[in-house]
Order: sequence, then C-alpha cells, then structure tokens
Amino acid sequence: MKDKIEKILLENKIQFEFIPLPEELASDVKVHMKFHGNSMDRAMPNIVFKTNKGFIVAQRRGDTKIDSKKLKKLAGVSDLRVATEEELKDLNLAPGIVPPTGIDATYFMDNKIFEKDFVYSGTGDKLFAIKLNPIDLKEINKSTVGDFTTQEDFQVSNKIVFSGIQPSGNLHIGNYIGSLRQWVKGQDNGLNIFCIVDMHAITVAQDPKILREKTFELAAIYLAAGIDPEKSLIFVQSHNPDHANLGWVLNCFASMGQMQRMTQYKDKSEGKDFVSVGLFDYPVLMAGDILLYDTTEVPVGDDQKQHVELARDLGEKLNGKFGETFVLPKPVIPATGGRIMSLIDPTKKMSKSDANQNATIYLLDEPEIAKKKIMSATTDSGNEIKYDWENKPGISNLIEIYSELEGNSIKEIEQKFENKNYKEFKESVAEVVVNFLKDFQAKYNKVIESDLKKILDDGAQKAYKLSHPKLLEVYRKVGFIN
Ligand code: TYM
Repeated sequence: MKDKIEKILLENKIQFEFIPLPEELASDVKVHMKFHGNSMDRAMPNIVFKTNKGFIVAQRRGDTKIDSKKLKKLAGVSDLRVATEEELKDLNLAPGIVPPTGIDATYFMDNKIFEKDFVYSGTGDKLFAIKLNPIDLKEINKSTVGDFTTQEDFQVSNKIVFSGIQPSGNLHIGNYIGSLRQWVKGQDNGLNIFCIVDMHAITVAQDPKILREKTFELAAIYLAAGIDPEKSLIFVQSHNPDHANLGWVLNCFASMGQMQRMTQYKDKSEGKDFVSVGLFDYPVLMAGDILLYDTTEVPVGDDQKQHVELARDLGEKLNGKFGETFVLPKPVIPATGGRIMSLIDPTKKMSKSDANQNATIYLLDEPEIAKKKIMSATTDSGNEIKYDWENKPGISNLIEIYSELEGNSIKEIEQKFENKNYKEFKESVAEVVVNFLKDFQAKYNKVIESDLKKILDDGAQKAYKLSHPKLLEVYRKVGFIN
C-alpha cells in the first residue's frame, strides 16, 4: 500500500515525507503523534465506512469527532457504519493505519483539516506514517469537502497526564476520590499515562507473593474505575527501566536538606524500627516518573503535592544547568475530596496502612461491612449537618464522601439534611457508599477476568518508547557517552 501511495503522489507531483515509526506505536495514533512531538490536531485519521452506496472514506482532523448525521447528509446516504476488520481486509487495509489515498472508495474531507498546512496520516504500512499538505489530497482523491465533525468535548490538547498508585495494601475510597476518579474524567483529552508503581511499594516491607497479586488487583481496579486502555497507557513501573535510571541521575541533583523536608517521609518513618533508604529517597524516584514523559499535569490527592513540587524543583534545576530538558509539571488536586479523612479519627488522612480497619472504606470491602463502618464513624458534638472542618471534621468528611460519590454539591447536601439528625445522615451516606461499592465491584469482577498481562505488557512497551528518548537526552547532557 505504501508503494501504491508513493506512486500516486509522485505522479501528481505532490510533496510528502514518509515518517518511520517504531513498530509498537503503529496502530496507536495518539501515542505516535506524541512520539513525534505533535498534538492530535496534526493527525488525519482516515475512516472507512460501509454505506448503502458502497464504501466511503471520511478524513477528519485527529482532535475532532465525526457527526454521523452530517456525514450521511454530505455523502447522500441513508445508512452508514464503520467498516469491519473483514471488510477492511477485503480492501487490503488494516485498522488504524488506513492510507489517505489509493482506496477504491469515495472520499470526504472535513473542512477543519485545511486549517493545517501539514498533517500526519497512516500509510497502510505499520512502520511508516506520511506527512503531507491535506489540500493536495483534495485534488487527487476528487474529494467532497464539507463540515461533518464536532469538537464539542474534544479540544486540541497538549496535556500530558502522569499519575500512579502503589500496589501495596488495599485501595480505599480516598484513593478513588482523590486520584483515580480524576484520571478517568480527564482521559478523553491529551496523553494519559497511569502507572502501577511497584518500585515505590518495596520502600516498605512487602511479601513478594502478595505484591504480585496486588499488582494485578490494582490493574483491575484501574479498569473497574473506568480507565480505558484504548485511551490511556497503563503499565507497571518496574517494566520500564527508565524510571530507576532517571531516578538515579536526579538523586545526584537533589540535596539532603531538600529531601529531609518531605513531610510524608517524616510521617511514614516515625516510630519505625527499620526505615529503608528507599523510603527516604522515594520522592526522587517519583520525580523521575513524572519528568520522563514531559508531563504537564499530575492528578493526585493532597498528600502528594509536596512530591510533585519536588519534581518541579528538580526539573527546574536541571533545566538551569543543562538547558531546556524537562517540562515542569503541576499537581492537580481536586477542590474537595483531595484529602478524605479516617472514619475513626477525622483529623488524620484515610490510609491504606491504618491499623484500625474501621477507619477506612476499602474499594473491595463487603458493602454490608462498609455500611457498619459508616454507621460507627466518629461524629462531632452537636446534631447539625454542617460543612465546617474546624468544628465538625467527622461530619465534614462524611459530607465530602457523600458529595463526591453522589454528585451533589456541599450546599445541596446541607439543605437536604437541614432537619435531619446524625443517624439519618449517616444512613444516607452508607446507602450512597453501598451503591457505589456494589457497582464498582460488579465492574471489578468482570475486568479481573480480562487479559491484564497483555494490557500491562502493551502499556510498558509504549511507555518505554515515550520515555527512552528523554532518558538518552539526559544521559547525553550529564556527559555519559553513547
Ligand atoms: P499512593 O499509592 O499512596 O496513593 C495513590 C493516590 O491516592 C491519593 N490518596 C488520597 N486522596 C484523597 N484522600 C486520601 N485519604 C488519600 N490517600 C491517598 C494519593 O494522593 C495518590 O494520588 N507516591 C505516590 C505514587 C506515585 C505517583 C508517581 C503519583 C509514584 N509516582 C508519579 C503521581 C505521579 C503514592 O505513594 O501514592
């Protein structure tokens, strides 16, 4: 197919350039656009549709969506559906890498494409993309041009999101509300990378067998929460050696004083007989995780803010020393729900490692047990349902949980429970939590059966393709020979 396009373009004296692609990126337009330093508005996916009048090819800009009603009207057809893999095979095409010309079909181009003087498209060959001016295609394909896309909830984005969770202990609703849920909300936009940070997990003692189980469990939790491996990269940190390698380089630029200021280290090491150097150093590894991918946003709970700021500081330091190398990331912390508190002591954060099981609602808790935990949650003096962290931390925490899981605003909740007592309010919170857990666990039980290993392997390969050029750039800048 690539040869056929080349011939057509040469015959028509059209300028173009073939762009070699690493094989692993082949059918993932989003990832290979990023790999070449471009955003989706420079991509031109070619979509083959089967209609009642035969095959058509719709060419759109990568940051837009096809409005099938408008396309039907423009094409003058009554029936339209995306061609199946079998049908594509009959046309000698493979999904995801359909070329921009040379197909026996009628062509339709969306006007928004022409706002760009060049775009990238597939070629039919897994190992090459093509770069050309879309206006030239209009002529050779005798395309009909029109407006058949929308950009409603799909803006051009240079956003790169990276975040991670440790596969240690049991995940709780704080992890879900503070981080996972934000990831899901944002994944239609930009490049989204979600890591299972097993190397962070071993900074405290882990049973190897349980760590392995928890790694798969966390992958299933990501999927159950709504992370879609078609949209986002999911992978395990230890599968991409670049993390540890960049971490080491950054270690040599972080000062002891800087690290001693990390409050989470102080909390986690307090009163322990054994504290590993890894635990002390872990924020540097985390900085490596983030900086490797030109991350612009790091959605996390409030307790990770200081670590993301350290990543910024280290990035800035190396940029100052070696010239522009790293993008400086910003933490994205939800306005409410960024710090869900313990049910037993609402002045302490809800935590995976709390010795008291009643302090925490785990995502895989039996719903009935979760209900009991809510009913026995510590409340405050008085009897009023009021959002007031200073005087009513217990009730404020339950209000946040209710608000985040049910979607009501804090004001709406205060009004709804104006004349109700603590017991009635807790019953309602318990009901919301139980419904959430039942729904979440039904999804979890489904996805735990899927081929998680394959999703993680694919994710790791793609992650490595993205991170490795950055690591090599850093190696070169610090003076390592090639
Ligand atoms: P971890 O595994 O402790 O927690 C995962 C995420 O959950 C958030 N979180 C909470 N949010 C609200 N309320 C709570 N009570 C609560 N407890 C935890 C955390 O803020 C976090 O977002 N170092 C990180 C993992 C990590 C990472 C990274 C994150 C490693 N590399 C790079 C972002 C980017 C950690 O230990 O999270």
